[in-house]
Amino acid sequence: MAIGWGVIGCGGIADRRTIPEGIVPAPSAELVAVQDIAEERVNEVSGKYGVSGYGTVEELLADDNVEAVYIATPTHVHHEQTVAAAQAGKHVLCEKPLALTIDECEASIAACAQAGVKFGTNFMMRFHACHTAIKQMIEAGDLGTPVLGRAELTCWYPPIEGAFRQIQALGGGGAMIDMGNHCIDLLEFLLGSKVARVACFTEHLVQDYETEDTAVAALHFANGAVGMVDTLFNVPDAAARNMLEVYGSKGSIVTRGTIGQESGGSISAIIEGETKGYDAQQARDAGAAEQIIEPDVVNMYEAAIEGFCEAIQGDTAPPVPGEDGLWSHQVMDALYESARTGEVLEVR
Ligand SMILES: NC(=O)c1ccc[n+]([C@@H]2O[C@H](COP(=O)([O-])OP(=O)(O)OC[C@H]3O[C@@H](n4cnc5c(N)ncnc54)[C@H](O)[C@@H]3O)[C@@H](O)[C@H]2O)c1
Repeated sequence: MAIGWGVIGCGGIADRRTIPEGIVPAPSAELVAVQDIAEERVNEVSGKYGVSGYGTVEELLADDNVEAVYIATPTHVHHEQTVAAAQAGKHVLCEKPLALTIDECEASIAACAQAGVKFGTNFMMRFHACHTAIKQMIEAGDLGTPVLGRAELTCWYPPIEGAFRQIQALGGGGAMIDMGNHCIDLLEFLLGSKVARVACFTEHLVQDYETEDTAVAALHFANGAVGMVDTLFNVPDAAARNMLEVYGSKGSIVTRGTIGQESGGSISAIIEGETKGYDAQQARDAGAAEQIIEPDVVNMYEAAIEGFCEAIQGDTAPPVPGEDGLWSHQVMDALYESARTGEVLEVR
């Protein structure tokens, strides 16, 4: 039996990606209801899919056909909606960031555990076919010892009246907590190691709002590898490269077009079979053949929903559990504190 899904906050990413690319096509999911505080969004999306539409979370949670909810509202309401859903016995897949504070993330995890429901974080970029291929290559030792990972997620995000990402109290921060968190989670996933220490700089260089439009993080992973994440709200979309690069003692892997909301893209890998001796010429192309790898496309949104459904059906841990969203928040807190104090900080 397919899992009945209700969507809380059906106006933005839910309507653009997660419903049409995730919940609708996923074999183990069935969209049964949507909710939003904006009536026109409820009418449009419920009408488009022929499902129940509700104006309040309470009404959606009272619908017996809803077994799992996908929460895609502004960050400041994630915690209260997660707890309400858990108490109503619904499984919860929540968008990142899971909440505004570490305490709220922990309380959301506790509420779901107490209710015996699954709780997942929607870091869907882990499911991108290029990213899973890179992870397999690293695990197979193709890259040798991983030494550095770099990821970028950038867009043009001008001032918009009331936009939660632009107001500290609603979004918890700007570019770093909104987009940088995806990049850091992805690097941890690929390198198979958590971030241990961070340094961060944030700035307001272009956009006229409260939260940062510019952020860069230097990362030191527990396995010793280092990394960098840069994320900007102030570069034209067409100019954003959204690079992902991983370097190791045997080679390098760079992707094109894989970070963001598109499930396509490609991998360029330069792998040397054996470690060579020192070459004072530092030849860049000798014996190193670039391979272009284009794995079969896997839609990230569908894979994330399907994986969560399978966890419900098989009573296993979700592929990206709530704990990973809590950890991401711990990393974010350290980054923002580093940006404030200028210190290199351990993540705790
Ligand atoms: N994984 C991804 O690819 C991805 C991409 C974009 C956004 N997101 C995340 O999704 C969440 C939503 O972002 P967005 O860009 O869709 O925002 P958005 O502002 O475009 O849409 C949010 C929707 O929630 C509704 N809403 C606001 N308050 C509500 C409430 N209290 N109850 C019910 N509905 C409410 C709004 O009316 C709107 O329709 C955020 O956590 C964001 O970080 C994830």
